[in-house]
Amino acid sequence: MNDATAGPLAVILAAGLGTRMRSRRPKVLHPVCGRPMLAHVLDVARTLRGPDPLVVVSPATERVRQEIGADGVAYALQAEPLGTADALRSAMDAVPPGVDEIIVLSGDVPLLRPATVRELVLLRRSEDATIALAVTHPADPRGYGRVVRDLDGRVARIIEEKDADEATRRIGEANAGLYAFNAAWVRSRIADVAPSPTTGEYYLPELVAMAHAEGGTVVTLDVADERELAGINDRVQLAEAEGELRRRIVEEHMRAGVTMLDPRSVTVESGVEIAPDVVLEAGVILQGRTRIGADSVIGAGSRVVDSVVGERCRVWSSVIESSEIGDDVRIGPWAHLRPGTRVGDGAEVGNFAEIKASTLGPGSKQHHFSYLGDATIGTHVNIGAGTVTCNYDGRRKHPTRIGDGAFIGSDTMLVAPVDVGAGARTGAGSVVTRDVPDGMLAVGVPARLRRPRDASEREIEPGTIAAEAGEASAVMAGAADDPAAQRPVPAAEDAAPRA
Ligand code: UD1
Ligand code: CA
Repeated sequence: MNDATAGPLAVILAAGLGTRMRSRRPKVLHPVCGRPMLAHVLDVARTLRGPDPLVVVSPATERVRQEIGADGVAYALQAEPLGTADALRSAMDAVPPGVDEIIVLSGDVPLLRPATVRELVLLRRSEDATIALAVTHPADPRGYGRVVRDLDGRVARIIEEKDADEATRRIGEANAGLYAFNAAWVRSRIADVAPSPTTGEYYLPELVAMAHAEGGTVVTLDVADERELAGINDRVQLAEAEGELRRRIVEEHMRAGVTMLDPRSVTVESGVEIAPDVVLEAGVILQGRTRIGADSVIGAGSRVVDSVVGERCRVWSSVIESSEIGDDVRIGPWAHLRPGTRVGDGAEVGNFAEIKASTLGPGSKQHHFSYLGDATIGTHVNIGAGTVTCNYDGRRKHPTRIGDGAFIGSDTMLVAPVDVGAGARTGAGSVVTRDVPDGMLAVGVPARLRRPRDASEREIEPGTIAAEAGEASAVMAGAADDPAAQRPVPAAEDAAPRA
């Protein structure tokens, strides 16, 4: 990475205030498809395989250094943002001695493609030019510096919009702000750039006029897709870049085998991995370090953030954050998996279910409006409708553990810390305040423990739960010898309010 002879050095200008954004946040830190603009530009810079890219910041954009970090990035400080030439001049002390080519990029062009930068580098080398610069012909060239050519058609200078007269403003060829320089030449001339008589700023494109005046070669690379080099100066352009990059990412995934029913409504942040034969329905948002396994269907309106979803899963209209989902899992509609959730293979999480920092073991089912927090649930457990782990006592969070094959009746309150053993059962409406040993039955408010009296009260064989999936589960707690348990305990589906 630090081999100065390997490739050109990329210098990324990011010291400008970006006042047109009207933001307290430095412009280049505004995210595009989930990552700061500058991170996209850094990705491109790194494809040059030169020394670590050098990012120019100013005291006003110091936050860039904190948020982007120093891993594989070098920084230079421009004391005051006096213009783009002053920014490059400020960077020169930090340029490693062996560097003979410098590529200057702006931190505000997140749509730039690596191939374009490579082409520019090769063009400068093949022409042995002092400067190669990228130009575009934007439909609306307002805001860009215009390319002024001499009678032989060679680039004579760039005139900034602010300094341009009417005739110059009619020039359609625009400076895209991407340059490849002969480094030795820049070293010898950068200090000679004079400030603009109109604005007092030091313009980097002045180097073009200087090279031309001394008979040096300036070549241009005409980039057909103007959007690629569009600089983001305000929030309208930010939204346009977001749309464009989103379209690009989504298309790449479709070409790689992902089906999208309504691609324009889908948001996939850069960095998300999606296996072939995944189906994304309308309005799906996939963010951060998310991975979706083959043959899974992510249903309309779902949002998945920093999570892994296995193969053959079906997620309907749900929100999944920092969670791990196994294979063949069904989630939703309207489930919320909060950070730290792990769902085992073949498990099911149903309507209005919420899980936080909990493990739901393979084959377990949690249908119908319930909450699991700080809980460890074994395999083939049935969580009845309305079950709640009461994990918070107002001061601290407490764990709940439920063993394999346990059957939690509808509307059970599990007052943590509490353990429910393997094969144990709880009666509908019970409030479990003490541990329930393996195979025991807990019924009533507060729950009392007893042995199941007959087969109908005993644990259900794993596997038969599947047949009941989708039904609210009631263990009839009709223990004649247990007055507390004799209260009518409705199953969730009977629980409609009575007048
Ligand atoms: C610049 C070019 C213009 C070109 C356009 C392409 C100059 C003078 N003009 O204009 O010819 O058409 O880009 O998008 O270069 N920056 C610093 N320090 C400073 C000033 C700016 O680091 O003192 C950085 C900014 O953070 C930004 C980049 O340089 O990343 C470009 O600055 P910006 O103000 O956006 O230049 P433009 O007006 O767009
Ligand atoms: Ca700009």
